[in-house]
Amino acid sequence: MQLTLTALAHQKDLFSLPADVTYLNCSYMAPLLKSVEEAGIIGLRKKQLPAQYGHYEFFDEIDHVRKLFSQLVNIDDYQRVAILPSVSYGMAIVAKNLRIQSSNNIVVVGEQFPSNVYSWRKKVAEANAELRTISAPETLENRGEQWNEELLEAIDNQTCMVTVAHTHWADGTRFDLRAIRKRTREVGALLVVDGTQSVGSMPFDVAEIQPDALICAGYKCLMGPYGITLGYFSEYFDDGDPLEEGWVTRHNSEDFTNLVNYQDQYQPKAIRYDMGQRSNFILIPMMGKALEVVMEWQPERIQEYCRSISVTAIEKLSALGFWVEKETYRGHHLFGVRIPEELSLDKLQKTLKQANIVVSVRGRSMRVSLHVYNEEQDLNRLVDCLQGLT
Ligand SMILES: Cc1ncc(COP(=O)(O)O)c(C=O)c1O
Repeated sequence: MQLTLTALAHQKDLFSLPADVTYLNCSYMAPLLKSVEEAGIIGLRKKQLPAQYGHYEFFDEIDHVRKLFSQLVNIDDYQRVAILPSVSYGMAIVAKNLRIQSSNNIVVVGEQFPSNVYSWRKKVAEANAELRTISAPETLENRGEQWNEELLEAIDNQTCMVTVAHTHWADGTRFDLRAIRKRTREVGALLVVDGTQSVGSMPFDVAEIQPDALICAGYKCLMGPYGITLGYFSEYFDDGDPLEEGWVTRHNSEDFTNLVNYQDQYQPKAIRYDMGQRSNFILIPMMGKALEVVMEWQPERIQEYCRSISVTAIEKLSALGFWVEKETYRGHHLFGVRIPEELSLDKLQKTLKQANIVVSVRGRSMRVSLHVYNEEQDLNRLVDCLQGLT
């Protein structure tokens, strides 16, 4: 039975965004939900009396976050979720445990976010292997489709890992993870996904895609605080080496009276990869609240909401000579707008600033990223602004 989802209305009232700012930059950082702020304040105040920290704060609340994230992306075992500080940390865990030989290659796409590049540069240098970077096609015609094709063609029998985002952080190009998974299975390569710019705002199903790792910073599409990243690790990493040798990730760490009865055994599955001081009494409740809200909104409905408020604006922008990728090869929450050559970038930046419109401009590409605090009028404002320049 196909369930029809009720449409989301805008959720601006749940945020504290100033009315005179048009914030179209969730890909930079999500604004703070009032409820997430409140959770942080309660967490902060708890330290007035540290005796309030107990088993719940050290263990149960962490598991609550693991469970919510598992529900969001359909992980059947919450112990496969690790609490990390950053994407670079998650990628460093993958790098530490990746089996690689000099004949191997690692495949990435061009201009990927640095946290999903530097670990591989080092890894291939150490192993005398190859980092294979598939740059975006020069042409704008069928750009997303061609990029995906070239990526698939680059994967060969020597590929030991493909590590990409679901949607490119700079222009929102969507990579066909199903096709990439199929090809990586054929050659026996790992698939690692940086979900930072998509998970939460776009549906992601771990059971369906079966990535070997999925790493998502919490402060963008997941609406959480800065400083918490959630990582899923498959069986490949079950007996792996963590980056740190902490106490809480060890067997029986729940028994505070026995911590110096040192344990060689770790907590099960991905918990071994948790960062030190993972029980952050301010950030963890904030992350939990943010996940609860995102789950209530539902990624499918967020996508549909973003589509509904942007479809007309994108048509208008295209008519004005700005290029936007076809819907099939991008998300609705994040897209790049290619600025025509004849338009002065300097003038564009100044005009956007004057109009209090916040987007990211990188070279001749403007990144527009939306969420449920945006309304159609925000995009109309952007279109009016750009129209005035052409
Ligand atoms: C795709 C992507 N991954 C990761 C990050 C953040 O990386 P880190 O958590 O290592 O700071 C960003 C930040 O903009 C990003 O866009």
